[in-house]
Amino acid sequence: MNLKPTRLRMCGNWVLDRFPLAQVWNEHMAHYYAPKNFNFWYFFGSLALLVLVNQFVTGILLTMNYKPDAKLAFDSVEYIMRDVNWGWLVRYMHSTGASAFFIVVYLHMFRGLLYGSFKQPRELIWIFGMLLFVALMAEAFMGYLLPWGQMSYWGAQVIISLFSAIPVVGDDLALWIRGDYVISDATLNRFFAFHVIAVPLVLVLLVFMHIVALHEVGSNNPDGVDIKKSKDPWGHPTDGIPFHPYYTVKDVVGVAVFLIFFATVIFYMPEMGGYFLEHANFIPADPMKTPEHIAPVWYFTPFYSILRAIPDKFAGVIGMGGSIVVLFLLPWLDRGKVKSIRYRGGIYKKALLLFVISFVALGYLGTQPVTPLATTMARIFTAIYFGFFLLMPIYTRWEKLKPVPNHITMQPTLEERIPELKALFEEVTEVKSEGEISKRSFNPTGAKNVLIRTAKNLKESLD
Ligand code: HEM
Repeated sequence: MNLKPTRLRMCGNWVLDRFPLAQVWNEHMAHYYAPKNFNFWYFFGSLALLVLVNQFVTGILLTMNYKPDAKLAFDSVEYIMRDVNWGWLVRYMHSTGASAFFIVVYLHMFRGLLYGSFKQPRELIWIFGMLLFVALMAEAFMGYLLPWGQMSYWGAQVIISLFSAIPVVGDDLALWIRGDYVISDATLNRFFAFHVIAVPLVLVLLVFMHIVALHEVGSNNPDGVDIKKSKDPWGHPTDGIPFHPYYTVKDVVGVAVFLIFFATVIFYMPEMGGYFLEHANFIPADPMKTPEHIAPVWYFTPFYSILRAIPDKFAGVIGMGGSIVVLFLLPWLDRGKVKSIRYRGGIYKKALLLFVISFVALGYLGTQPVTPLATTMARIFTAIYFGFFLLMPIYTRWEKLKPVPNHITMQPTLEERIPELKALFEEVTEVKSEGEISKRSFNPTGAKNVLIRTAKNLKESLD
């Protein structure tokens, strides 16, 4: 087929005359100005998108051989692992992808806490993000039932029975969710429907709204400075660069590094010591035999710990739900006048550190069997978790802040450097008067001083 470039161009133009592809590309990529100081923490949004695509592609392939039937489900997964060509790879990409999703999303959310990305005017981006997080948890929870292993079965049993703790309607609600008196084929069927179509649709819609909201107000950055304040004569932010090609190329680097880690897990440690694929899930579900120790997958354990730390079952459910609800309220709990941690006072920094420690510790404790010591520790860390959020309106108002620079880079602009440049010019030149007219000529002593100073600075920076 000989498709001449001109004909190809004509075809392209035919499409562009009928579809605003170029306009969308320009508005959201080539002419979308992002702050020029994005750092490591800004990789995780695009990585979340990558993992989402991975989950869709591998999920569709898995569905081609999986059977959502209580009698066949476990064996169909074994069949995928042993007999389907490349089935083991597709399944490990999907199961590792689930954990990778939460790692990436937790780091993405932590970036928000570092740089105050949830603060005005980005509250809605945060709310859509939180809805995504809740939908992601629902997606992972329902997906975990599908292999129909012991942990799938009993994990779902524990979590759904939590609903029965709700006064008056609890039992009916749990029955309604299960579609039976126990977890059964009916539960598996509906979870399959939600996992493969309903929740993914919600996820795609929410990701779309998350990005639309982001592009409406523009990205925050590690300095928390509004880049729209200073624009060049063409109306582009002086502190911004076009997203494409600069950040598309930068994101490729993030993707490459991520894929190295991802592939290492898939090929060398797909179970991750029982954290990504729990050992008990290699045993088919047995409704007559409760496993000795039931623990959810690692990404749920911080919240599971909070549930167990509270002695009363209903209060525990409220506590666990509350630990997610407070995250939604973050934009209104933080009263600090600056966004980035770089210009916040010491209190927020220490509070954030304590929060991270307590979140990780709760996550660890949630994987462990209950002992009196573990329960006490979980109560302390639960108090710190809630303290971080509920005391936030007080400590963020109190603390002493550092002045925020006008520009995102620490280097002054040429305009700001002009007085400095003028002083330098004065130093390396001297005024000489020749008759009536005074003239500037070279000043060797001044130039020598400038050179010595430069050499000293250079030496210091090299040391
Ligand atoms: C499926 C999950 C998610 C995907 C695919 C996703 C995707 C993205 C992308 C591509 C960006 C722009 C690039 C970047 O700033 O890193 C972004 C920004 C953002 N996301 Fe998400 N996100 C997800 C979940 C979340 C969650 C759970 C939260 C928090 C609750 C969140 C909060 C934010 C915020 C606040 C921004 C703006 C950051 C800034 O401008 O500094 N996202 N997201």
